[in-house]
Amino acid sequence: QRVRQERIGAACLKRTRAFGKLILFGEHFVVYKAPALVGAVAAYTDCDVEFTGAPGIEVVDLRPAVPGYKVEKAAEGEEAVKIVLSHLGVDTEKRGAKITFGGSLTAVSGIGASAAQVVSLARALSAALPRTLSEEEVNAAGYEGEKGYHGTPSGVDNTAATYGGVLRFQRTDGAPLFTMKKLAGPIRIVYASTGITASTTKVVGDVKAKKEADEAWFGSLLARYTALAAEGEAALDAGDMAALGRLLDENHALCQELTVSCKELDDLVVAARGAGAVGAKMSGTGRGGLMLALTPTAESQAAVAKALEKLAPQVWMTTFA
Ligand code: MEV
Repeated sequence: QRVRQERIGAACLKRTRAFGKLILFGEHFVVYKAPALVGAVAAYTDCDVEFTGAPGIEVVDLRPAVPGYKVEKAAEGEEAVKIVLSHLGVDTEKRGAKITFGGSLTAVSGIGASAAQVVSLARALSAALPRTLSEEEVNAAGYEGEKGYHGTPSGVDNTAATYGGVLRFQRTDGAPLFTMKKLAGPIRIVYASTGITASTTKVVGDVKAKKEADEAWFGSLLARYTALAAEGEAALDAGDMAALGRLLDENHALCQELTVSCKELDDLVVAARGAGAVGAKMSGTGRGGLMLALTPTAESQAAVAKALEKLAPQVWMTTFA
């Protein structure tokens, strides 16, 4: 196993890297074409594909993961891998493939682990076939693969996984619109897991059902979110951490109203604010998964991480720069 991991980390596999992400603004609302702001974390998934003589698919999954994640996501992951292979025209009944996933990204609900996995697979297939794929084609293959994990992805996760950086992303009736944000300064984040693996299909499906049952309620939340997202983007552009923090708090409150937060997330959010975060919110699917906290200095980042470590099974620090 050690040898495998060294091979996975080898320089020649760098081109298969696909990043994890944290949604700063807009989970769930992004599905309904509101703009989202998303930051890619430095940790990545990478992948190696070897074509073998015998037909079939063998997946070796060496990614670090929180307990339970891989088991819970096994069937969806299998489907996602098959979709990417077929999207790129690989018939594993004719030639088998051994697919190895590795990298530094811990697979946990909320971090975009599924998107990082399918995007890294697209990159690895491009290298193994070989077939030159543009970044757009890699992203498109990732989007298709994401459908294996959840039926109606907005595309935000695979776009962050493909391009990295901090992005403004918006779904449209046609191709999504996204732009890379230029940051005024570093954005220091602590993120922590509730330890609960959430099902994006289920939570996105529940939001859809609630929306269909009460369009006026959802429309008003979406309008409030859209106004908030514009303020959030302005605060990000200005590098105004106090305003950004306040708006992250407001986005968390909207997630609570949307019923996608939960006690475990709320408790971590409150603890982070108490330890010096200028803002905190759930991030990603919710009802488990991750929360993030905005910390203006390296000292407050360390202090918030220390406080969250007492409550959360896993805590990470990342800085968007
Ligand atoms: C999941 O990371 C984000 C959601 O908004 C779903 C999506 O955008 O596809 C919950």
